[in-house]
Amino acid sequence: MQRIEWVASLSVGNKHIDEQHQKLIELTNELIDNSNAEFNSRLISESLDELMKYSKYHFEDEERLMRKCKYPDYEQHVKEHEWFVLRISSFCLDVIEHKQSVTEEMIHFLSAWLLDHFAVKDQQYKSCI
Ligand SMILES: [Fe+2]
Ligand SMILES: [Fe+2]
Repeated sequence: MQRIEWVASLSVGNKHIDEQHQKLIELTNELIDNSNAEFNSRLISESLDELMKYSKYHFEDEERLMRKCKYPDYEQHVKEHEWFVLRISSFCLDVIEHKQSVTEEMIHFLSAWLLDHFAVKDQQYKSCI
């Protein structure tokens, strides 16, 4: 599975948030590397769990900034974050509880969702935060 990359056009003009987005990409790539390597359920569940925890941390931080500037599309944006957390939690359950590997479909969902969210939804609060 292909690694993903942060590019300058994904910047939201806030160093702190850009660094968190870069960290999310780095954690996704660790998960991709671990799932490309020989199957190791402990490594895979650890990297998936880390990605989930860091996503929650990032979303809370981003939502706090949006509340601070009274971002008009706040509710809808939070729903998108909640949707991602729900999906990743269910992947965690499959991998951790059922000791199954991350599937190509899971990786594809995580990578595509993150890149699309950074490129579209997170760009929309750019002028506000
Ligand atoms: Fe967001
Ligand atoms: Fe974000």
